[in-house]
Amino acid sequence: MTAEAASMAPEAPSSVAFSNPQALTDDLYRDSPLSIRPLTTHMGVEVIGAGQVKGTPEWLRRTLNFLWMEHGVLLFRDLDFNEADQVAFSRMFGEQEVHGRLELNSREHPELLYLTNRKDLGLPEIATQSNELDWHSDQTYLPRPALGSFLYAVEVPPSGGNTYWADMRTAYDRLPEETKARIDGTIAIHDYDKVNKSYGGAANDFQKSRTSLCERHPLVRTHPLTLRRTLYLAPRMMTRIEGMDEAESETLFTQLEAAATADDLVYRHNWRAGDAVLWDNARVMHRRDAFSADTIRFMRRTTIRPPVEISVPF
Ligand code: OGA
Ligand code: MN
Repeated sequence: MTAEAASMAPEAPSSVAFSNPQALTDDLYRDSPLSIRPLTTHMGVEVIGAGQVKGTPEWLRRTLNFLWMEHGVLLFRDLDFNEADQVAFSRMFGEQEVHGRLELNSREHPELLYLTNRKDLGLPEIATQSNELDWHSDQTYLPRPALGSFLYAVEVPPSGGNTYWADMRTAYDRLPEETKARIDGTIAIHDYDKVNKSYGGAANDFQKSRTSLCERHPLVRTHPLTLRRTLYLAPRMMTRIEGMDEAESETLFTQLEAAATADDLVYRHNWRAGDAVLWDNARVMHRRDAFSADTIRFMRRTTIRPPVEISVPF
C-alpha cells in the first residue's frame, strides 16, 4: 500500500480485528449469553440465561437494569439461590431496604423478608396468612416507597398462590383525555391502617416510630427513571383523594383499577420453586391469589430503594 492509500483507508477500530477475522466474532461481536421472551404485549419479559452467569459482572448489571426499566417486570427461572446469592443479585439494582416488619426478616440477612405460611420459622401470625393479597404497589405508605421488589420462590404450593402484575403506564396512556385532565395533579392518601384492617396485622413499634404510615402521593407520577407518565395506585391502601370525599374517591379508584387491570395489561405468574420476579413498583402494581392453608408457600423478598435524589414522587 502506498503512503497515500494508507492515509485514505478507514481507520481500523483495532488492529487485532483486522489481522485476525476470528477474533472479530469471538471477542468484539460476541453475543450476550442472555435472551428475552415477552410475557405480555405491553409489559414484562422472561430473562433467559442469567442464572448461568458467575457473580454479578458489570455487563450483567447494566443489561438487567436496562431491561427492568424498559419492561417493568423481569422473570428469571431455574435459579438456585441461597440467601446470600439473592442479596448479591438484588444489590445490582440498588440500595437494599431492610423491611420495617423486622420480625419477618431473615436473621442472617435482614434485607430478606419472608413471606410464608411455614410455622417452623418462629414468625408471627401475619406471615402465616394464605389468603388473597389485593392489588397494591409496595410500601406506598412510606414517604420514600420501594422502587423495586425481587421475589424468589423457595417452595410453592401445588395450586393457588399465583401472582399478577398490572401495567399502570400503558393504562395511563390509554385513559381518555378528560380522565387524564381530571387526575393529573391530584394527590392520594395512602394509609397503612386501611390495608392492615383487612389482613389483621397491626404495624409494629419500629414502623410507627419511623413514619406516620400515612403518606400523600400523586395519583399520576412521572416515573423517576423512565420519565413516563404513570398511574400510581395501591387501591386497598388509598383512602381518598385530597379535595374529594371518600365516596367520590372510591368510585375513581375503582374506575382506575379497572383500567389498569384490563386483561391485556396483566401478567399472571404460576410459580415454580427457583423462580424469581423483579418488578418496578413505580410502573406496575401486583396482587396474589389465595392458596390452601394446608400447603406450604415460602417466598423471600428483597426490596430496592430508589436513589435518594429521585425518590420523592412528582
Ligand atoms: C410482595 C407481594 C405477593 C406474593 O412480595 O410484595 O405482594 O405472591 N407478594 O407473595
Ligand atoms: Mn407486595
